[in-house]
Amino acid sequence: MQKKWWHSKTAYQIYPKSFMDSNGDGIGDLKGIIGKLDYLKNLGIDIIWLSPIYCSPLADQGYDISDYYNIDPRFGTMEDMDLLLAEAKKRDMHIVMDLVVNHCSDEHEWFKKACEDPDGPYGKYFYIYDHKDGEKLPSNLRSYFGGSVWEPLPGHPDKIYFHAFHKKQPDLNWENEEVRKEIYKMINWWLDKGLAGFRIDAIINIKKALPFKDYPADRDDNMSSVVNMIKDAKGVGEFLNEMADETFRKYDAFTVGEVFDVNEEDLPRFIGDTGYFSSMFDFEEHLINASFMGGYMAKPVTPEQYKEAIFRAHLRMENKGFLSNIIENHDEPRGVSHYIPEGDVNDVSKKMLAGVYFFMPGLPFIYQGQEIGMENKVFESIDEVDDIATIDDYKVALEAGLSEAEALKAVSRVSRDNARTPFQWDDTANAGFTTGKPWLGVNKNYKNINAASQINDENSVFAFYKKMIALRNSEEYSETLVYGKLEPVMEDVHNLLAYKRIGDKELLIIANYDKAERTVTLPSGYESSNIVLSNSSTINISDNNITLPGYGFALVRK
Ligand code: GLC
Ligand code: CA
Repeated sequence: MQKKWWHSKTAYQIYPKSFMDSNGDGIGDLKGIIGKLDYLKNLGIDIIWLSPIYCSPLADQGYDISDYYNIDPRFGTMEDMDLLLAEAKKRDMHIVMDLVVNHCSDEHEWFKKACEDPDGPYGKYFYIYDHKDGEKLPSNLRSYFGGSVWEPLPGHPDKIYFHAFHKKQPDLNWENEEVRKEIYKMINWWLDKGLAGFRIDAIINIKKALPFKDYPADRDDNMSSVVNMIKDAKGVGEFLNEMADETFRKYDAFTVGEVFDVNEEDLPRFIGDTGYFSSMFDFEEHLINASFMGGYMAKPVTPEQYKEAIFRAHLRMENKGFLSNIIENHDEPRGVSHYIPEGDVNDVSKKMLAGVYFFMPGLPFIYQGQEIGMENKVFESIDEVDDIATIDDYKVALEAGLSEAEALKAVSRVSRDNARTPFQWDDTANAGFTTGKPWLGVNKNYKNINAASQINDENSVFAFYKKMIALRNSEEYSETLVYGKLEPVMEDVHNLLAYKRIGDKELLIIANYDKAERTVTLPSGYESSNIVLSNSSTINISDNNITLPGYGFALVRK
């Protein structure tokens, strides 16, 4: 594997709407982010991924872009963006934006022009078909956010357009070369501005299996998830390769794809040395018991399932490329609430979960608030929920016969809004996020869980993240932690998650993913080892044994 500038970095995802509000309108903004760069620098962050801040009606919180070349006034101005780039550069940090090009907003001028003249050039930017009332639709596909993928074209009762996500997110027609050229031009425009790269949204969806047809129904609504059509589509690689050639490769940009369902043999083409992207997210743990975007029926994840998924995902990557590792993002519940059994969520277990994913091969991403151990919110009514995916999930749960209370409880566990509540900066009103009314309710636990109380506490979750980052950056362990080989150990010990990283040094990462204390015999060679990092002062090694409290975690040097 060729070494790349970003391999040893630590990345951080900002969800701008909920990070820091600088002007009291209840919505986080670029000035708010600029004011917190030193906080991120202190943590040890090198790369910042910003969820979308382009002009948008915010139907899907910015993943519906109406102007790719401008900043939404709610987030600030292009001057603010330029200032953010400059201030980041000063601190040796890199800014990565979200690239949302499977679809745009129905308020983008391309779509407006397509509605004005569906037979003109902009009509071909989208998937628009003739359709008379009562006629069969081109396919029985269900969109990701529920309901048919087909919607009448505004102003044209005899035409319909395709949307894989929300109806306010019409899919762009990548088969049209003009569309692709427009997109590449836009990408290069941003890279010329000094952007380090992109997180690439929903990108596998750009290739459709055409012509559209029906797929076997997968619910009582007689529809079939749009995923079934996407899985059936061949040739996405040609588009991705062309995009990389026309844009990213010319700039040595860092790109991370939101990619699901890649076959093992295709991995090198996606993220190998000359892959379409630099990296892609590991979603294996996130897909346990769930489908893309949760689903109210998802059962809690067990430690054994987590172990199986994380090793499978990383072992198949060996020598092929560099994954990007997360425990949560803006589409997921909070990792600590999702992966740690209810009742066991505390600072010790939070640090354990952190240590397990952070030292896996790949690029660690921290989602805002993860570093202070933010947890799922308790939603008391569906009216407190803003997310379109959760609202649809709730509807589906009610239709399936759940009571309102049951449905709310079920969707709350997986709701995307869990990760979207305002960042908890301190214990003042609205957790210090805004002086106004926050656009989404603050988690009630902010008095106990907030950044201000943790920054100077060396036992805090924040301090633990800081130590992990420093360790991965340290001269002593960087080579091993960045490039070392992964070797799972003691895999068959129930609820124990342990692996070695073998590089110029050898390290053992060992986690007791269980509430009961246990003593484990260390692999040979670790007899007189040193604990480099742990989540509890009670952990010690004697006679080749290590005793770990419930959710104990240690990183041990051979
Ligand atoms: C991605 C985003 C998600 C968004 C969807 C549509 O999955 O992460 O937030 O809703 O794409 O753009
Ligand atoms: Ca604001």
